[in-house]
Amino acid sequence: MRSYHIITFGCQMNERDSETLAGMLEAMGYVRCEDPKASDVVILNTCSVRENADKRFYGVLGQLKHSHEDRPGMIVAVCGCMMQQQAVIDTLKEKYPWVDLVFGTQNLQDFPRLFAGVKASGKNLIELPEEGGALPEGLPSKREYGFKAFVNIMQGCNNFCSYCIVPYTRGRERSRHPEDIIAEVKALAADGCKEVMLLGQNVNSYGRAKGEVAEKGYIASRDEPHISFAGLLREIDAIEGIERIRFMTSHPKDLSDDIIECFGELKHLCRQIHLPVQSGSSKVLKEMNRVYDRDQYLALVRRLRQACPDIAISTDIIVGFPGETEEDFEDTLSLVREVEYDSAFTFIYSVRRGTPAASREDQVPEELKHERFDRLIDAIHEIQERKSLAYQDQIVPVLVEGRSKTDQSMLTGRTEKNKVVDFPGDDSLIGTITDVRITKAQTFSLYGETV
Ligand code: SAH
Ligand code: SF4
Ligand code: F3S
Repeated sequence: MRSYHIITFGCQMNERDSETLAGMLEAMGYVRCEDPKASDVVILNTCSVRENADKRFYGVLGQLKHSHEDRPGMIVAVCGCMMQQQAVIDTLKEKYPWVDLVFGTQNLQDFPRLFAGVKASGKNLIELPEEGGALPEGLPSKREYGFKAFVNIMQGCNNFCSYCIVPYTRGRERSRHPEDIIAEVKALAADGCKEVMLLGQNVNSYGRAKGEVAEKGYIASRDEPHISFAGLLREIDAIEGIERIRFMTSHPKDLSDDIIECFGELKHLCRQIHLPVQSGSSKVLKEMNRVYDRDQYLALVRRLRQACPDIAISTDIIVGFPGETEEDFEDTLSLVREVEYDSAFTFIYSVRRGTPAASREDQVPEELKHERFDRLIDAIHEIQERKSLAYQDQIVPVLVEGRSKTDQSMLTGRTEKNKVVDFPGDDSLIGTITDVRITKAQTFSLYGETV
């Protein structure tokens, strides 16, 4: 049996792409192997959003060198967002010339052909085409779970936030045709899938890449997906068997009233939204090119809570953006306290070559960035603790995902608001939505028992 191992860095988009690569390899007769060093094919699917991601990639790649030397015929392939940058390709050519295959985010669908080429010729190959054309459909895939699934609805980003590399690595926004998305979700439901996570770098601008978005409209032709994101949500909400719908990520500038209303209206849309704010300072937001200010963001939060009073809101925040003053940072702290986020992903600003913010002279010193980062974490934890402790004695429906990694005697699952709950139970509950009473609520974890 020939075997493969895929190492995935980065966001859900990359996880989904890795499921496609796994599907392609299995279609070629390869089986998954847990140990990269013992696998016949290893693929590293990379992320470039922060410097740490780049460093981890080179670390892992370096570790594979010996196995690659010792085991003739072993193929090491690298793909994903890092490969879309010339500087990375140059480094690979110079320092890692033994890598067999390099491809990017725009030619995932070509992997079987590229792989066959490398195997037949024994030569290494770099192929990075220009972006363009429709997103590929009908590719095989080996999904991570049966009961919940990632569904890509669009790819790419047109926003060019001044700190961010993604528009350069994923290209311009392109939406999948609604018919293809709906067919995929129906097929998932028929296979017993209960939860779908709709994915895109900016799902709110779904369908916009090709002409105007029709109100709640329908499809004119296969070339023009005339349906808005809210329209798509309504279609998916009506698919029998799908009990939970989530989406990620939405940009505040494109969060329409129509989408906000969906939270009050749709039966299966989870009362949960990830709405990255990045900063609480209007000055910084402007320099980040986010196209909304503090007040506009807070108004959105109010509208969301009007439509759906107990909606859980999570966010992304960057500290230490160039030129960020103590006052700007305090604006972020006060915004965090005002919104009372259920959870927040916090990042220290990382210089990304080629982005406008990278060339600014007023970079914030490392030490100061770390100090602000710690203060921000403290503020977030305080809110999280309060919110988490309020779960005590509540009964919450949980989609059971499997055995807890830290304690095999416990099952683990997620609430509608994406909180993880551990509780004792039988394997037969895996993949079902089960009512759990919270018996022990802690800041970072909830424990319970079935009722
Ligand atoms: N499309 C999504 C975000 C994708 S990147 C959105 O716009 O919300 C995920 C997060 O990484 C971003 O929200 C941002 O908080 C963070 N990020 C992006 N570039 C960064 C950088 N250069 N330094 C630090 N964090 C960054
Ligand atoms: Fe990056 Fe901004 Fe696009 Fe998100 S919206 S991927 S942060 S450029
Ligand atoms: Fe990283 Fe690419 Fe996602 S840069 S965050 S893997 S879109």
